[in-house]
Amino acid sequence: ALPAKVNIIDVGPRDGLQNEKQLVPAQVKTELVHLLQTAGLREIEVTSFVSPKWVPQMADNAQVMGQIQRRDGVRYSVLVPNMKGMEAALLTQPDEIVVFASASESFSQKNINCSIAESIERFAPVVQAAHAQGIVVRGAMSCTVGCPYEGDIAPAQVEYLARLLHDVGVDRVDVADTIGVGTPLKIQRALEATFKHFGVDNVSGHFHDTYGQAIGNTLAALELGVWNFQSSVAGLGGCPYAKGATGNVATEDVVFMLHGMGIETGIDLDRLVDAGLYISAQLGRPSHSRAGTAIAKK
Ligand code: HMG
Ligand code: MG
Repeated sequence: ALPAKVNIIDVGPRDGLQNEKQLVPAQVKTELVHLLQTAGLREIEVTSFVSPKWVPQMADNAQVMGQIQRRDGVRYSVLVPNMKGMEAALLTQPDEIVVFASASESFSQKNINCSIAESIERFAPVVQAAHAQGIVVRGAMSCTVGCPYEGDIAPAQVEYLARLLHDVGVDRVDVADTIGVGTPLKIQRALEATFKHFGVDNVSGHFHDTYGQAIGNTLAALELGVWNFQSSVAGLGGCPYAKGATGNVATEDVVFMLHGMGIETGIDLDRLVDAGLYISAQLGRPSHSRAGTAIAKK
């Protein structure tokens, strides 16, 4: 049976905006977070504590975390690659830390400048520091079906990474299709490889929509009982180290599908559309959400 409820983690302020060439003011990022929580999002990936030389757009991480007006019941997460990022992140009181690794060795090198095994060594003290303060740790697994440098990625590589993340103490993981080449059955194989180490309640789907497969992949994940998904309002985004990859699947499109299937999300779709229109106007371009665009025209 399909899940009756789905939890959506909007990653637009982080995954969405990190790839923007034009620097988006902290005030706009803050307003985006506020609009998302008003629309009913209960998990928002706000920013990342990475090197500003690698990702200049996230250099205002502490400022944005300091400006947002937090609501009870909303989980604000941040990406952290190492202890240096963790020290800065902890000062801003996040509810969840996201470490990020790759199922592909080449992508690991390009994205975080170290091997998969080295990345796990860097995460170990991060996980410890988070748990010491009662903070949950999510592990993002990139390139779980395909890699911009290596091509196809075997489920065995996903299983290997899931095992390492489990053993280092990560609480939940994202199965990410970073470049959007996954199709439904390949996504199911990557999810099943992950289930060897994490229960379905602790596995989320993170699908980029480069090839228009993300909605189909979301349904394929639902069929396996997955009920946590990452998406970006207005379909914002892309990864600076995955050339040509477009944004995450649009949150509006996922919510439209789920509500149409009678699955609860707790999200007010009209308000979500407004959030998408706001950030698209700020960026000076149309929304990439098909549902958002259609609803706005009604
Ligand atoms: P490195 O150059 O190997 O690091 O980068 P290093 O330890 O040698 O340090 C170099 C310099 O960076 C030093 O400064 C450090 O202090 C500084 P300098 O002495 O030259 O002035 N530094 C930092 N500054 C701020 N915050 C930090 C930090 N760490 C070191 N945390 C590093 C290694 C991991 C830092 C770098 O590669 C990096 O920042 N990478 C981040 C890349 C990134 O953000 N990618 C996008 C997110 S992943 C993603 O989008 C995929 C995902 O959505 C899932 C999916 O779709 O697949 C999650
Ligand atoms: Mg991503």
